[in-house]
Amino acid sequence: MPTVLDYEPLVISSKDFHEEPLTAIQEEILELKKERNSVILAHNYQVDAIQRIADYVGDSLGLSYRAAKADADVILFCGVHFMAETAKIVNPDKTVILPDLEAGCSLSDSCPAEKLAAYKEANPDTYVVAYINCSAGVKALSDVICTSGNAAKIVEKVPEDKDILFVPDQNLGQWVAKQTGRKMKLWPGSCYAHVLFTVQSLEKLKSQFPGAPIVAHPECVETVRDMADEVCSTENMLAFCRDHPSEDIIVVTETGMLNRMRREISGKRFIAGPTDTCACNDCRFMKMNTIEKVRDALRNLSPAIEMDESIRQKAFVPIKRMLDWS
Ligand code: 13P
Ligand code: SF4
Repeated sequence: MPTVLDYEPLVISSKDFHEEPLTAIQEEILELKKERNSVILAHNYQVDAIQRIADYVGDSLGLSYRAAKADADVILFCGVHFMAETAKIVNPDKTVILPDLEAGCSLSDSCPAEKLAAYKEANPDTYVVAYINCSAGVKALSDVICTSGNAAKIVEKVPEDKDILFVPDQNLGQWVAKQTGRKMKLWPGSCYAHVLFTVQSLEKLKSQFPGAPIVAHPECVETVRDMADEVCSTENMLAFCRDHPSEDIIVVTETGMLNRMRREISGKRFIAGPTDTCACNDCRFMKMNTIEKVRDALRNLSPAIEMDESIRQKAFVPIKRMLDWS
């Protein structure tokens, strides 16, 4: 068992960074991509080898837009299941593949569709705002979807007389309620990875890098968010780091984020947000996708996302509303 706070910080510098040539497997994927007429979308938390061969790397909001506009027969989605499912909901006629079908999400799992359906039956006037990190079944029961990049904007657009239930992330919901002044009931779900960041681990890091600002994801708990100079989606973290004058920045989210920062923002040092027992924090679901599984998925056009058409149609409505509202 690792000792609490007994580790060296993880510092990723972009100061002397240069890209290595692509490996044979990465070249093979780019060839297969052409043969299959496919587009590769990757979340900011994917491993660097995958981010490098993607057509687009971004946050959930950017990925939703890219998926909606995808001009290809096949969408290879390098992220977790609910993200690939969202791509399928907006592209029913395309083949959507996910390198590992087991790549789930603890946050999504914390709100099963049956429980939400039971809640709605007992509270029929509820207006459900669902964070995109949820299943197609939950989306189908929701009024509008949001991501961490547009959550406050979406909630502000909900008519004042509506009684809002925000699912499934209580931390993001609490942050949005504070931002907007809007009273909302919060579903008691959370991201297992983001709640591992602690005040004590960040205080120790701050004592080692006193001038470094902290940028944190809204899925973190409130005490951690309160320590941050900025709280935002992964895409907005890039803009924050690019624009901030400090050379050192503490980035409190999943470690894959640092790959993109190192590639796209020169002359800085990015310090990974720590937990009590580790200098960094990987999401075990995001990291189920490997470069080999990406190659195999394109070769075999499998595993593919399938869903019931009536669920898909119902889930499309709140996604479309989000895309229109944001
Ligand atoms: P964003 O990239 O949209 O900020 O979401 C983070 C996340 O946890 C996705 O699973
Ligand atoms: Fe889900 Fe958290 Fe992993 Fe994102 S980081 S996919 S919210 S478990």
